Amino acid sequence: MVIEDPLEVRKACEAARARGLGVGFVPTMGALHAGHLALTREAKKRAKFVVCSIFVNPTQFGPNEDLARYPRDLEGDVRKLEDVDVVFAPAPEAMYVPGERTRVRVDELTAHLCGPHRPGHFEGVTTVVAKLFSIVGPSVAVFGKKDFQQLAVIRRMTKDLFFPVEIVGHPIVREPDGLAMSSRNAYLSPEERQRALGLSRGLAEAARAFEKGERRAGVLRDLALASIEPIATSIDYVSVADVDAMTPLPDDATAPERVLLAVACRVGGTRLIDNVVLGEDPPPVRLD
Ligand code: PAJ
Repeated sequence: MVIEDPLEVRKACEAARARGLGVGFVPTMGALHAGHLALTREAKKRAKFVVCSIFVNPTQFGPNEDLARYPRDLEGDVRKLEDVDVVFAPAPEAMYVPGERTRVRVDELTAHLCGPHRPGHFEGVTTVVAKLFSIVGPSVAVFGKKDFQQLAVIRRMTKDLFFPVEIVGHPIVREPDGLAMSSRNAYLSPEERQRALGLSRGLAEAARAFEKGERRAGVLRDLALASIEPIATSIDYVSVADVDAMTPLPDDATAPERVLLAVACRVGGTRLIDNVVLGEDPPPVRLD
């Protein structure tokens, strides 16, 4: 069932709760791929009634970002969401009503990594997710670790605002060759698609060294950079960072036993992100 009106979605979720069903929630911006569908499957395992939102949220795009050309395919998306109970697809004016003046901002966790490169982005994300939580009232919500910093920021916001929802992080779903699935991969030309493999390859090189005992942050970073620099049009960051605080470690630091290695770069005009938690995740791709 596709519903556009936030108040109707709230009613449907209230009715589900009244029937004793737990409400699971997966927020998305649509152009759904297997990564998104893994999240809805996870939600269905954890709750009887699942809502998936499809909303290209204008406030999380910067003025020079791809809001206008972001891929949109509501009909195709709805077909892919067969086992979801409600597809919530609001219009921008329904989520940002005339006269609205409220924003939700999480400090510090947004100060590094993607934060400085996308001013206002996380504020847009936390604002819309807070609105969505308020409308749906989920008991569990599933987010992908592909957007690792986003997941950390949402966890913080959920605690700080006392949202009664369990936040579940789902592993990154990858193409068979290692590329992390993303709606933005559709922008890549065949040549750029090939080059984009440098991200997962760089993370895997560092993961292999980490497994063999390498703990120097600068060396781990350089190993990733060696595969990413040659294929990137520009690099926002390649960082070894604290997995909770989202703060980058200096190159001369010793990495702890569980540490985030994250990358954001452009391949052609397309901004791609990827990450691995060293000491926790399997290597993103097999190296021969
Ligand atoms: P979107 O990019 O559509 O992603 C929706 C959810 O799918 C996010 O939790 C994201 O981390 C997850 N996801 C995307 N690609 C994935 C992959 N390859 N493997 C696992 N999970 C993946 O993230 C957003 O939308 C928005 O910021 C949103 C949270 C909906 C707020 O507008």
